[in-house]
Amino acid sequence: MMRHLISAADLTRDDAVLILDTAEEMARVADRPIKKLPTLRGRTVVNLFFEDSTRTRISFEAAEKRLSADVINFTAKGSSVSKGESLKDTAQTLEAMGVDAVVIRHGASGAPYRLATSDWIDATVINAGDGTHQHPTQALLDAFTMRRRLVGRDAGLGRDLEGKRITLVGDVLHSRVARSNVDLLHTLGAEVTLVAPPTLLPIGVEHWPAHVSYDIDSVLAKSDAVMMLRVQRERMNAAFFPTEREYSRRYGLNGERMAKMPEHAVVMHPGPMVRGMEITADVADSDRCTVVEQVANGVSVRMAVLYLLLGGNESATPAPAARTEESK
Ligand code: NCD
Repeated sequence: MMRHLISAADLTRDDAVLILDTAEEMARVADRPIKKLPTLRGRTVVNLFFEDSTRTRISFEAAEKRLSADVINFTAKGSSVSKGESLKDTAQTLEAMGVDAVVIRHGASGAPYRLATSDWIDATVINAGDGTHQHPTQALLDAFTMRRRLVGRDAGLGRDLEGKRITLVGDVLHSRVARSNVDLLHTLGAEVTLVAPPTLLPIGVEHWPAHVSYDIDSVLAKSDAVMMLRVQRERMNAAFFPTEREYSRRYGLNGERMAKMPEHAVVMHPGPMVRGMEITADVADSDRCTVVEQVANGVSVRMAVLYLLLGGNESATPAPAARTEESK
């Protein structure tokens, strides 16, 4: 296993399968009355968030605490970053405190890579979203959710997302979730289709391992999962479509469109959802929508990533009896 997790493209199929299988073991811990493992006892993990986050931040923190790590939360707002401090100085401050892992979210694409390849800090770096570039743990939790919903819990991965047809709809241009998902799903053998207005597709998308369509209605019936993406207004400096109404009408998922999907197919969303824009409330609240499940799965997947990257001890999830012994 690698030392850092910067991009979903860096994961081999074996790495990805190992993370997903380990996450399945971690998920079983969540069913126990005591949800804590001693795995990262004595290790310090910093959550370094320069950009807003709800789900990702909370879920990393829950994962770290379930593995008994010491957790330090850092948000740029209210820190010396607002006084102009650089990433380098922030990193060196953390290094001085002896941190073992840094979970970083940053508005600049490449910031986690810069940190991992610098000599500012010796810790393991995990990318929790950088600009429009990558969000690898999101892709892993999405793959985990698809595997559970479309293949079954005990599939024992291997090639099991092979041939599954996954459609990503919306603001692909600004979406690190889309980039990470395309990379990982391709590695796992799934067939990906991107649906977006031409203005919200990046230059060079024809070289991505994915099909492109401008017509959502033509792909729904052929999809095993449809992942809706938020229109990332905060990253837009121009008008990319005429009006919100026009966008929802052409690219939004509503009940009528959902009915075109095969019965087993699921609707996914990384959150935060903008109800009424890319997804209607009835679809967001339906049983077929996995948004809440994705959040729960995020904790298990992030536990697996932290455990594997920090080279935890022999067994990731010792049996409850063994744990009692150890904590004496
Ligand atoms: C996404 C993100 O921040 O990249 N959300 C998330 O991590 N759950 C997607 C988004 O903001 O739309």
